[in-house]
Amino acid sequence: MCGIVGYVGRHNAVPVLISGLESLEYRGYDSAGVAVLQNDGIGIRKAKGKVDNLRTLLLNNPVSGKVGIGHTRWATHGAPSDRNAHPHFSNGEVIAVVHNGIIENYQELKDELEAKGYKFESETDTETAANLIYDFYKECNDLLEAVRLTLERIEGSYALGVLCSDCPDQIIAARKESPLIIGIGQGENFIASDIPAILEYTRDAYILDDKELALVKADSIQIFDIEGNEIEKSVYSYKWNVEAAQKSGYDHFMLKEIYEQPKVVKDNLAHRFSEDGKHIELDGIKLGKEQLKNINQIYIVACGTAYYAGLVGKYLLERIVRIPVNSEVASEFRYKDPLIDEHTLVIVVSQSGETADTLSALKLAKDRGARVLAIVNAVGSSIAREADDVLYTLAGFEIAVASTKAFSAQVTAMYLITLHIAQELGKISDEDFAEIKTALDKLPSQINDILTKAVPAIRKFVNKYIGSKNVFYIGRGLDYVVGMEGSLKLKEIAYLHSEPYAAGELKHGPIALIEEATLVVGVVTQESLFDKTKSNIKEVKARGAKVLAIAMKGNSSIEEVADDVIYIPRTHWMLTSILANIPQQLFAYYMALGLGEDIDKPRNLAKSVTVE
Ligand code: M6R
Repeated sequence: MCGIVGYVGRHNAVPVLISGLESLEYRGYDSAGVAVLQNDGIGIRKAKGKVDNLRTLLLNNPVSGKVGIGHTRWATHGAPSDRNAHPHFSNGEVIAVVHNGIIENYQELKDELEAKGYKFESETDTETAANLIYDFYKECNDLLEAVRLTLERIEGSYALGVLCSDCPDQIIAARKESPLIIGIGQGENFIASDIPAILEYTRDAYILDDKELALVKADSIQIFDIEGNEIEKSVYSYKWNVEAAQKSGYDHFMLKEIYEQPKVVKDNLAHRFSEDGKHIELDGIKLGKEQLKNINQIYIVACGTAYYAGLVGKYLLERIVRIPVNSEVASEFRYKDPLIDEHTLVIVVSQSGETADTLSALKLAKDRGARVLAIVNAVGSSIAREADDVLYTLAGFEIAVASTKAFSAQVTAMYLITLHIAQELGKISDEDFAEIKTALDKLPSQINDILTKAVPAIRKFVNKYIGSKNVFYIGRGLDYVVGMEGSLKLKEIAYLHSEPYAAGELKHGPIALIEEATLVVGVVTQESLFDKTKSNIKEVKARGAKVLAIAMKGNSSIEEVADDVIYIPRTHWMLTSILANIPQQLFAYYMALGLGEDIDKPRNLAKSVTVE
């Protein structure tokens, strides 16, 4: 969480920092601040709330200088406030620090520093780092060494940007378990949590690895390991262009990303089949017959939306490959002493590739000898670099906090992996493979079809149901999983209480919550389960619920029990999830819009959760 940006060059750093912070707001927006090296020392400006507030503050109370760092915060230690906003000064205002991560032993360090007479202004862990750096700096008079010595004392995670009033030409950056890149310019260099922050200036960067430090000046970048040895790193060139990180005429990033889904799914299918279309070819994945024969169980581990995409994979792999698959949220998996060994394939799924819980789960799996396959969107991210095999989801930047296109890309990856494993293990006939391939090829245009035709109907339903306070999503099998994702979207951006339930489980308790006019979204695209779910819909109707059903074209008998129906185009049973989810995304989007919520930056959330 939290976004960091830094600039050292020939121009005023402040506009670069502000535009960088705006691009990083998806990482947190509780407060924002900048620190700039001025002639008379470091000037800090910071404000609670979004970057806009900081912008206003800077208009009334400007700072300027050619070296600076900035931060946009998702609060962990201490409430969102001006006081807890970064950057943080050390005592004496010699050192200024921005930090993304958590210093787990900060209390112990703070006690030591207080015993030496240091005073603390904020409730943050970061201020401890600022004072510790200052303490070492006073002894060694070398900023890089002072930061390095501080890192040796810190337990936890960090991406750090450090300024010193005595060193007016440099920024020190460091990283452990929180992402940080060093952008390479001409006569200017940058630090950033993620490339969108600096894409306007450069596409070339060094991606820092854990426990590496960088000394960044306008004309040079030096990188060191934690022992202080200088190291060589190769330059990574990002393929994105500036437009990829802009709204391009859409009102919100979420809407833009919803409409990008036909292309995202198409890109994910292109080049993933042999020329004759009869086999899956997954570049970068060494999971052939030999390796797979050694695997007797699969775990799929992820968080949030990525977890639901993984659940789709579980249903498919178990049904088609007939191999036991456990699906776990990463924050549970990592502390439950999971039963995994060298015969386990662990599939981790992550859009950002930086989710702390998923990354730790991956490391645990590797420590226990499991083979780890990562389905990741962010190229070069920590999860991508730690995994044995990586399948990139080619969704481009996903900026809205509520994940949409990443889900469709992850589910597409699950389709491909299922087919690949099934084929390698001889669990699918050529005829079935060909039938699914034909259906897959139609998916992008079918998504497009929903996007072009469903919006007026969905807006009508939103107007009808906008007063709903509790919304239940019910379904069976893959439809149950889709309901989980629909329910999460509604919670996240429309702030509506919503629960997904396995339709058959309702009668074991949750049906007690259904009363007059409770809204129930019934997902009924699985034809083999159609009659069963239809009966469950009848049960909630009988208790006064209003039902909005999502069904496959042709199954119009659902109209006998539902108040309203959205139809998706007909497809193979295993491919319904993406299509059924599109109306859910639009429903959540227009609900949030109707309720006047901040769609791209929902309260309390951040895009990339790099803390536990
Ligand atoms: O970057 P990741 O895919 O690892 O993120 C996982 C979740 O934090 C994420 O999917 C979250 O649930 C989204 N806000 C959902 O819209």
